[in-house]
Amino acid sequence: MRQPDQGALVLGIETSCDETAAAVVTAGAEIRANVIASQVDLHRRYGGVVPEVASRQHVPAVLPVVDTALREAGAGPESLAAVAVTRGPGLVGALLVGVAAAKGLALAWGVDLVGVNHLEGHVYSARLEDPGLAPPYLCLIVSGGHTDLVWVEADGRYRLLGRTRDDAAGEAFDKSARVMGLGYPGGPAIDRAAAGGDPEAVPFPRAMLEDPSLDFSFSGLKTAVVQFYRRARAAGKEPPLADVAASFQQAVVDVLVKKTIRAARETGASRVAVVGGVAANSVLRRDMAAAAARAGLALTIPRPALCTDNAAMIAYAGYHRWRLGHRDDLSLDVRANLPLETGAGAAQEPAGAVANPTG
Ligand code: KG4
Ligand code: ZN
Repeated sequence: MRQPDQGALVLGIETSCDETAAAVVTAGAEIRANVIASQVDLHRRYGGVVPEVASRQHVPAVLPVVDTALREAGAGPESLAAVAVTRGPGLVGALLVGVAAAKGLALAWGVDLVGVNHLEGHVYSARLEDPGLAPPYLCLIVSGGHTDLVWVEADGRYRLLGRTRDDAAGEAFDKSARVMGLGYPGGPAIDRAAAGGDPEAVPFPRAMLEDPSLDFSFSGLKTAVVQFYRRARAAGKEPPLADVAASFQQAVVDVLVKKTIRAARETGASRVAVVGGVAANSVLRRDMAAAAARAGLALTIPRPALCTDNAAMIAYAGYHRWRLGHRDDLSLDVRANLPLETGAGAAQEPAGAVANPTG
């Protein structure tokens, strides 16, 4: 068993949704390889991720992706300290493929196995971007399945401050994009379509801003987009797509920025990280940077390739769990609703803590 040192390598495997990914990362946060086989083109024709299709696609993809990552990293199994794998939250069938592969490889190579929480992976993506970032800090996780404001107390110790009460921010992008006639995934499509549009053209609602909690709600926004089109068309007008997309995007971004700054004020945080697929959004990045600067907060938003699902963040989160002494054996199972507060641990999960079903 290798001891922690800056050169220790961890292989990460991620199959929680529609990306089959493998990466090799060092203890010093250096990304030696970050490989992703995306199924997006396949799911696009269904307008979203089809769970059975996703699981099936992971099967032939996972080992070649691991091989490619090791080759690109110039690393053999003997140089690995651990194999880290996402065990939840996510699609059960999809998670099972990654976990089965990781178990087989760890067993065959005689390397430690570490199960990782996908959300903890997103949290660590900020530390890959900025290795100087250390707890405590505030983290906004905005993905397809989650919109969580999390206080990162220490490595592996999290406190949930606020969350969406219905749709996640990414889900709002994906659903509203469909209403606008844009393809899947909706987030990048709206980001592109909004370029040059007027963000004040349509006054879409900013839900929960008056609410004293740090929770969010985005389901009303999709309904507002549907109603807006219905009224416009009844009046014989087809509004410019760029204006609708820009107005929608601004409504989501305004709420995310305001609540994050409020959470920073309430917790006394001086450092903030924004992670997850929606953190790739150009307007969120711009507005969050401006608001953080005004509030005197240090802000880390990973480069877009580390915001969307990847295995580098799983490898790095896995490295930290491994450094803290966590090891899993072949009984490691998957959990569709794995909550973040307890990291990837199984035994200490609080009863009844249920997160959104996807990562
Ligand atoms: O973190 P992620 O890749 O997967 C999950 O863990 O869910 O996040 C995916 C979500 C999708 O809803 C996608 O539409 C959204 O992130 N997304 C974006 C952008 N890029 C990806 N949303 C807004 N703007 C973007 N540029
Ligand atoms: Zn994710």
